[in-house]
Amino acid sequence: MYISRPASDVVALTDAVPVPGIGFLPVNAYVLYAREPVLIDTGLGASSPEFLEELWSLVEPSDLRWVYLTDPDHAESALEVLDAAPDALLVTTYLGMMLLSIEKRIPAERVFLLNPGEWLDVGDRRLGAFRLPVHHGPAATGLLDDLTGTYFSSDCFGAPMTTGDLVQSDDIGAVPSSDLVAGQRLWAAVDCPGLIYVDRDEFLTRLALLGSLDPPVVLGSHLPSAHHKTETLLDTLASAQEAPSYAAPDQATVRRMLHELEPTHA
Ligand SMILES: [Fe+2]
Ligand SMILES: [Fe+2]
Repeated sequence: MYISRPASDVVALTDAVPVPGIGFLPVNAYVLYAREPVLIDTGLGASSPEFLEELWSLVEPSDLRWVYLTDPDHAESALEVLDAAPDALLVTTYLGMMLLSIEKRIPAERVFLLNPGEWLDVGDRRLGAFRLPVHHGPAATGLLDDLTGTYFSSDCFGAPMTTGDLVQSDDIGAVPSSDLVAGQRLWAAVDCPGLIYVDRDEFLTRLALLGSLDPPVVLGSHLPSAHHKTETLLDTLASAQEAPSYAAPDQATVRRMLHELEPTHA
């Protein structure tokens, strides 16, 4: 677990998933120190105990008021967080609540619905839920902080890193530009295979809408922090429709990759 401070009022909890043949996928959650503290996404299920320990060193369970899911598949430690934080409510869309209920029993009174286009008052600022230009599910949303302009972008700008060290970069500027572009295009092809069928003008309009927000800081669920780089991120996504569709390795290829990584175990 890597802890960093991508903005003066935000702490990031960063984990990574090694993916053979692809690289290392960052998995980020964020604590936003609004007057009413907000946890944004809930980490990696495989390292949940460590995540919870780090989280409660950053915010007192009794102080946490909101747990915002930018995507219902970012709910790995959601139940444990709600159990420990009696005054916290889980924020998701109506569709998010529906999808969550398939896998988790979350009491309805602990859920606060925020659909795209709606705003949540967290004491000293409002957080707005926005539809994302690239997403793999119907309930994913971006989250805009109207006090600072920071934009939490969920899966939208994800990219696997070529090395584990790069996952812990404090800014995407530390990632070699060609690797970042290739990683973002690969992620878009994997995470949103239907992107190639989206009308080009419609797609560019969606990107322009996000560009018009001009967030100074973009904090993704699967990317190191991006400071003053929104235009670059959007330009790369604009080219993602031309990226080749992803050809997944078969069983024999994966066995070979695992053997190369750990010869005695694969
Ligand atoms: Fe997702
Ligand atoms: Fe994700």
